[in-house]
Formats: sequence, C-alpha cells, structure tokens
Amino acid sequence: MQNEMMHRPVVKKELVDYMRTKQKPLSGKIGELEREANQRGVPVIPHETVVFLQFLLGQLQPQEILEIGAAIGFSSSLMSQYVGEKGHVTTIDRYDVMIKEAKENYARLGLEDKVTLLEGQAQEILPTLTGPYDFIFMDSAKSKYIEFLPECLRLLKKGGVLMVDDIFQGGTILDPVEAIPRKNRAIHRKLNAFLDVVTEHPQLTSTLVPLGDGVLLITKDEEEIHL
Ligand SMILES: C[S@@+](CC[C@H](N)C(=O)[O-])C[C@H]1O[C@@H](n2cnc3c(N)ncnc32)[C@H](O)[C@@H]1O
Repeated sequence: MQNEMMHRPVVKKELVDYMRTKQKPLSGKIGELEREANQRGVPVIPHETVVFLQFLLGQLQPQEILEIGAAIGFSSSLMSQYVGEKGHVTTIDRYDVMIKEAKENYARLGLEDKVTLLEGQAQEILPTLTGPYDFIFMDSAKSKYIEFLPECLRLLKKGGVLMVDDIFQGGTILDPVEAIPRKNRAIHRKLNAFLDVVTEHPQLTSTLVPLGDGVLLITKDEEEIHL
C-alpha cells in the first residue's frame, strides 16, 4: 500500500504560522529582541527554529558553543542561556553595522561575559580557533558552507553537533540550475555540493529538518574526518 504522507508537502503555510504562533514566545528582554528583529526584517532564526534550538540545547547541555554569523546577536544570546555557569558562546561576524548592534544587545541583556564576538571574515578567524566545541551553529553566507565545513569539523568534539541553517535556498535547492537566476547559481551549486558531501559521508551522521528554510544537523562519529 502506498504511504500517502510521502506525497503531501509537510510544511504548509498554515502549519508554519501555527509553529510560529502556537509555540511559547520568548519572555523578557530576549523576547523583545526577537520581536524587534522580526518587525524590522533583520534576518534572525524564525521562531520554529528558536523553539527547536531550545529543545535541542536543553537535551545536549553544551558547554562551549561556536556560531558563525552573529548578526544582531539574537541566536547567540539565546544559546548562551543553555551553556551552564562555566560555559561560553563564541560568535563571528564581519559586518560593522551588525557588530555594533550585537554589542549593544549583549550589554542590554547582561551577556558581555557570556558571549564573545570575534570581528572579521570567518574564513580568516576559523583557522585561528582551537575549540573544541560541543555545538557549532553555522548561519552565515551560504556559498561558504562548503569552505567552512573542514574547519567546523576540526573544531567540533566527537559526538558534538554542527547545526547549519538555511540550506534549501528559499526552497529552490532542487530546481535545475537553468531555473536559478544567474547571480544565485554559484550559491546553488556550492550548497548542493555541500549537501552531497555531508549526506553521503561515511564518517558523518546527518539529518535534514524542514524548519524555516531548512536545517541540517551533523554529528561526527570519529575524531578525524577525512573529507
Ligand atoms: C542570517 S544572519 C545571522 C543571524 C543570527 N544567527 C541570528 O539568528 O540571530 C548572517 C550573518 O552572517 C554574517 N556573515 C556572512 N558571511 C560571513 C563571513 N564569511 N564571515 C563572517 N560573517 C559572515 C553576516 O554579516 C550576517 O550578519
């Protein structure tokens, strides 16, 4: 018998709205920050990903977290609530406008000791880090994911989790390249190559989750990964 669920799109607009409105809002100053970011159209993780991250980090109880792509410091502030007393979040951003706002937000939330913002290009900063990290959240330029993967895997603890956001390229990831506007073709090609490498790698375990514009969770099964 055919499984008809296989042929129905899972995430209808109504369900996305439901996930965003039904699930508990964030309270306090971080809730204000989320609402402000959404009103202003600042690209922060959508609420369904917020709730997923809260659940996941609540279970994993990481100590050391690395983020690539801080923007205004929303997701790093959220993640800092889950690292325990001794834990820390390190995040990276290259854009001065975002960096300024992120710093103001860390001060406003009293997180200056809990979050370190490294300023500059991730491709230059990542090789200088030693980690290791229990959890890495990659949420930066999509075309660079494939380039950052070896560094993320080097910095990730065995059994740690690398979470990657926005991997479906606005839902167009499976479209033929001719249907993609020329300016987005390099991203399309590199994002597809990244997904192929990760999902097919014998030393990595991964899962695709249709939250927001797609989330990929990766864990490494061995200390050294040969890409
Ligand atoms: C989608 S936003 C991050 C949102 C944030 N994680 C949140 O949910 O609150 C992406 C950010 O990554 C930064 N970024 C993109 N590519 C980068 C790179 N190669 N190095 C450093 N920062 C980068 C951008 O400046 C931007 O602020």
